[in-house]
Amino acid sequence: MSFKNFILGLIATFGLPWLLLIVVPFAKMRNIEPVFFDETKDGLTGVYTPERAGRIANGSEVYGANGCYVCHSQVIRPTYAGSEIWRDDWAGQKKDADDKDTRRISNVWDYNGEPIAHIGLTRVGPDLSNAGYRLEKKAAQFGMTAEEYVYTRLLTPRSFVGNHWSTCPSQPQLFSKPDAYAQEKAYIVKSDEGEKGKEKSYVPGKSAKALASYLLSLKKDDPIPDSMNYRRVKTAAN
Ligand code: HEC
Repeated sequence: MSFKNFILGLIATFGLPWLLLIVVPFAKMRNIEPVFFDETKDGLTGVYTPERAGRIANGSEVYGANGCYVCHSQVIRPTYAGSEIWRDDWAGQKKDADDKDTRRISNVWDYNGEPIAHIGLTRVGPDLSNAGYRLEKKAAQFGMTAEEYVYTRLLTPRSFVGNHWSTCPSQPQLFSKPDAYAQEKAYIVKSDEGEKGKEKSYVPGKSAKALASYLLSLKKDDPIPDSMNYRRVKTAAN
């Protein structure tokens, strides 16, 4: 093999994938222009700004640092790449008759304010794009506040009825044992290790609070411009 062919081979093997997988997508993502609402179609004016309430930036960091993205995706794929847009509680809200149909495909603005877009590596667990809704509903079902439910879930995912086979790992590093002088609220959590049914109280640390706030913010229900055409059912934005 001549030296020239060797260099050409190197470029073809590493240069081309680098160009197509990194440089081109990066350039495309950088070029995102603001999207405007159309008054006649959307009934709204101005620039589309994604709305989410919660500790997005720090929560997203905790989510990344604890490897949640390894098992959980956060992307509703376009119809050419998957069929989750039809899934009532993944792609948005549609399950109950009183829910507004918010099902839609993910877009780049969905990760606004997050240091990394956690689209995820695998789908061992459910997609969390709209987890906020599901967590609130589950919490109500168990008669808990949303935060209380998320803390218990994070510490003992198997402690809930119907969830005894969960493989979502417990995150004890985010909690501490209550100390006598602690000012924070302790949560009573049914422990599933050791003695069966034994109740223990734990105090969620700063990271647990940020993560819970982040998880509860995961709702893709804000009005998006008609021009983006990502909605399952195209209705006026408001
Ligand atoms: C080893 C894979 C794995 C990892 C890592 C993992 N999970 Fe899970 N997770 C699962 C599985 C499987 C389920 C479904 C069973 C259940 O509901 O517990 C689940 C369910 C959940 C749910 C409930 C989703 C719903 O739709 O009701 C939440 C919330 C959640 N995980 C959060 C997390 C967070 C936060 C982390 C990181 C701290 C994490 N998971 C890490 C596997 C994983």
